[in-house]
Amino acid sequence: MLHLNYTNILKTGIGSKHGISDKALRNFCIKNNPYVKDVMRSKKKGGYDFLNLPDNTSLLAKIKRLANEQSKNEWQNIVVLGIGGSSLGLSALKSALLGPLSQKPRLIVIDNIDPDYTEGILSRINISKTLFIVISKSGTTVEPMFLYGIVKQMLVAKNPKNYKKHFIFITDPKKGLLRKIGKEEGITMFDIPPKIGGRFSVLSSVGLVPASLAGIDIASLLKGAKTMREALKSSLPETNPALILASVQFLMDRKKSKNMTVVMPYSTSLFKVGLWYRQLLAESIGKNKKTGPTPLSALGTTDQHSMLQLFAEGPNDKLIIFMRVLKHMSDPSLNEVLPKEIGFLNNKKMSQIIDASYLGTSESLAKANRPNVTIEIPKVDARHIGMLLMLFEFQVALLGLMYKVDTFNQPGVEEGKIITKELLSNS
Ligand code: PA5
Repeated sequence: MLHLNYTNILKTGIGSKHGISDKALRNFCIKNNPYVKDVMRSKKKGGYDFLNLPDNTSLLAKIKRLANEQSKNEWQNIVVLGIGGSSLGLSALKSALLGPLSQKPRLIVIDNIDPDYTEGILSRINISKTLFIVISKSGTTVEPMFLYGIVKQMLVAKNPKNYKKHFIFITDPKKGLLRKIGKEEGITMFDIPPKIGGRFSVLSSVGLVPASLAGIDIASLLKGAKTMREALKSSLPETNPALILASVQFLMDRKKSKNMTVVMPYSTSLFKVGLWYRQLLAESIGKNKKTGPTPLSALGTTDQHSMLQLFAEGPNDKLIIFMRVLKHMSDPSLNEVLPKEIGFLNNKKMSQIIDASYLGTSESLAKANRPNVTIEIPKVDARHIGMLLMLFEFQVALLGLMYKVDTFNQPGVEEGKIITKELLSNS
């Protein structure tokens, strides 16, 4: 199970000007505990439906059948075309669970409409050996639709009779242009449940289909998410990590003016989980001109050499969420190879260095009265990533109730999309 350590937000850890008393935090959690039930009760309606995703065994079976069929094609690459909630969750799964170097098949996510970047990928891969998964809930988003057009053009030019087998669409079951094109062309399609918003969709077909085809153990991912959901449902308020984290964030923002949240994993593979969380928090809570801690992403130890100066001595307006991995999958160690000037590194494992760096940073920040919490993750595997994603989604749903906003809409984003379409239509 994951563990939340919040010693460094308490008055005893960082002083009374910036810290919260244990009693105040506990009382706030008890007062807000009914929200846990509200989130669970709302499972059947609205955006809270994301809680049901780990139970979808028929989707698992369908994806298994798809994986069997597709294995015959021996794809070298799986290229996903999607943006925002339709790509960030998958990117997080990819970096956490597939490792930094190319896999077979190689999973590539194109989540921007950047000409050079797109061309850099499409001109270097063998598209005859590539499966393209187009993901768009609305089925009308400019970026994935344009990219789909470019790819279709390339595939038709190569093989007009056979291009359709290179596509899978993941979209709304009824609405949108992508659904219409898919129906007309007879393309394999998966549904995005209508009530699930993009940023809460990673455990739906949006994340699961490409993740599974790329070799991620999606059954364990869902099992982990389910375990976390059940634990959060039945926890006491004082031990519920989603409730405590939401309460800390809310109190830090409202009572201590910490209106920024930095997510800083000490693990490169978790960096993109931080980017996924950035969207989850920003689009869910940043509303009404008044609410929403600004999320920032950082990476330990890398950003100790980039951002830490600001975190330690700049404005004291941030809450830092560290992620600490307790057991790494591999752990290179050093013999007596370095000179005595830096000899303290000899006979150490790499995990000891990263962990000491994390401890040093969190302690030094606490000494400077800078609030920080740590999520301890036993290891980065599918089960624990499932737990982590569910923890964050549940926490943001609770935060939405605390701030009294509609967690699941994003009117500010829609307006920009409309203007862009108008501009393109009139040019
Ligand atoms: O979280 C959201 O709802 C958004 O970020 C969307 O996912 C994003 O705008 C892409 O939309 P669509 O999936 O409709 O193409």
